[in-house]
Amino acid sequence: MGSKTDVLARPFFFHPPHLHGGGTEIINVMKNLVILISGGGSNMLALARAAERDDWAGRYQARITAVISNKADAKGLQLAQDLGLATSVVDHKAFANAADPRSAFDSALMADIDQHQPALVLLAGFMRILTPGFVAHYQGRLINIHPSLLPAFTGLHTHQRAIDEGCQFAGATVHRVTAELDHGEILAQAVVPVMPDDTADTLAARVLTQEHLIYPRVVAELLSSLT
Ligand code: GRF
Repeated sequence: MGSKTDVLARPFFFHPPHLHGGGTEIINVMKNLVILISGGGSNMLALARAAERDDWAGRYQARITAVISNKADAKGLQLAQDLGLATSVVDHKAFANAADPRSAFDSALMADIDQHQPALVLLAGFMRILTPGFVAHYQGRLINIHPSLLPAFTGLHTHQRAIDEGCQFAGATVHRVTAELDHGEILAQAVVPVMPDDTADTLAARVLTQEHLIYPRVVAELLSSLT
């Protein structure tokens, strides 16, 4: 027989009164977060550290349930495993011979993600263009971080392009994902100066430190609005 104490002792599950009295059904009220990566995983790490440091489990009933990479050798996978996070790989190259490789990959990725019933899917250095079907499937739940001050410099090589254009400022943008690449509602931006002697690498490093601050902040805000 459930009691108030049982519920408090099990913060991850809620037993509605009508299910008490012998029923084994439980409703998982945790907000699951799935993070997609392709490389270094430093944004994933920043999100995981913020979740721990700021007690997203207690505060927002949220937890990172999976880190998924489209590359088996992504460094971020090891970082995630070191943190005790579940990881998996959906290799886009495995679908190269499909009739529609991009859709086939996205379907497999969706199947992997959906096992976790995510409240949010967080693209963190995930270097794949997603199909409109994928984006529609996660409408309102799909967030990305892009290393430029959108709408400037969508796509790749953002730092070199900012330097080449003589920009005095660069930065990063957290935004909702729409079917159009690097568009969608802007949720936060961080601005950094471009120094006269900057290379793409030095600028990227400066921008990245800001990415690590704004992405967790946006996710926390979104989670608080979901409670
Ligand atoms: C970040 O600058 C991210 O915005 C961009 O790729 C970089 C990847 O960083 N899409 P990491 O994998 O999170 O370290």
